[in-house]
Amino acid sequence: MIQRRPLLALPALISVGTMAACGEDSTGSGTAAQTSVEVFTWWAQGSEKAGLDALVEVFATQHPDVEFVNGAVAGGAGSAAKDLLQSRLRAGDPPETFQAHAGAELNDYIEAGQIQDVSALLDEFGLRDAIPERLLARLSVDQAIYSIPSNIHRSNMVWGSATVLNDAGIDTSSPPASLDEFLEQLQRLQGAGVTPLSVGTTWTQVHLLEAVLMAQLGADAYNGLFDGATAWDGAEVTAALERFEAMIGHTNPDRDDLDWPGATQQVIDGAAGYNVMGDWAIAAFEQAQLVLGEDFVAFELPGREKVFGFLADSFTLPEGASHPDGARAWLETVSSVDGQLALSLAKGAIPARTDVDTAEFSEYMQGALTSFAQDAICSSIAHGAATSVAWLTAISEATSQFTTGASDLAGYQSALADAAGSGRG
Ligand code: GAL
Repeated sequence: MIQRRPLLALPALISVGTMAACGEDSTGSGTAAQTSVEVFTWWAQGSEKAGLDALVEVFATQHPDVEFVNGAVAGGAGSAAKDLLQSRLRAGDPPETFQAHAGAELNDYIEAGQIQDVSALLDEFGLRDAIPERLLARLSVDQAIYSIPSNIHRSNMVWGSATVLNDAGIDTSSPPASLDEFLEQLQRLQGAGVTPLSVGTTWTQVHLLEAVLMAQLGADAYNGLFDGATAWDGAEVTAALERFEAMIGHTNPDRDDLDWPGATQQVIDGAAGYNVMGDWAIAAFEQAQLVLGEDFVAFELPGREKVFGFLADSFTLPEGASHPDGARAWLETVSSVDGQLALSLAKGAIPARTDVDTAEFSEYMQGALTSFAQDAICSSIAHGAATSVAWLTAISEATSQFTTGASDLAGYQSALADAAGSGRG
């Protein structure tokens, strides 16, 4: 039984906006919305907001009688949103739906009894055949499905400024062939007096770390980090951490003050050579009217083999939300062909459904589609696919200690190994 709960005061961080519903009510007496849906995300700025706006436009067409309430909380990767969400869930004040990731992150909410099984909606929306099996598997626990996916993203991408690289004498006609060649390029950029690699605050450093682990270990060994098959205190992880340390040594001093848009912007502005960020960055380059292959380059961080660093955004049906009918409407839109097409185009994602017509996708997005279909899949740490929220928090703390100089490499590795020990339970 869903009960209405008292609403807590909304902190200033939340930008609450509404899209007025325009449908007649059932009596024909007015235009008020019949229900509403507060959609809690971290798509609050830049290309992420553009993606949300595109989705809201489709929502308004498909469900004109449902008022959209924007509960977005700024902070990339949910860095501020997730804590606030947890307080609201604990206080019995859930939004009608919230953004989560397919994969291990869902277990936290499932174990706490905070989200509902949405298998019936999956059937009702005809999604079983439209969503690839490997994605469905990441949304399921014991035959139940706990969220509806809106899109898939690739995490392990390097973005480079063609001008900065060429000025430093780096050939941009093909990407570096190995992680060590990439490191040599960073050294060359350092010598040229520019920031070789821009990075932002802790979560973006974890994002960089996971890309290095994927590249150094390859898919099987990387994936083994999360089921115990690969030791976090082993030599290959040490080799990855040494390369991560070298990369951090080539980053911008203001890194802890920036979120991903600020770090990526340094490449867009020609103030840095490279940035490692998920493929939502493509929308920022496109917004700046830069042309792939001419003004900037994009490639997977090179390593042992080609891998697709995987994450998928998905939306939940929390227990105890006030307007389950509003949530149902939102979930229908995010899972619809039109919703997924609009969101993907605006945000540089690929659709979670396989039956969306991708003919108008850019060269970059076509590449992401091919990579998802062909390459080995490695689940993202920073974006909740590989690790629970608690495990990610422990990895983030260890990473921040290391990059701020409070721990050395051996201490970092043993903190990561400890985090894995408690993370796997
Ligand atoms: C991820 C999310 C992406 C994008 C990114 C940057 O966690 O899945 O859709 O929003 O964070 O904030």
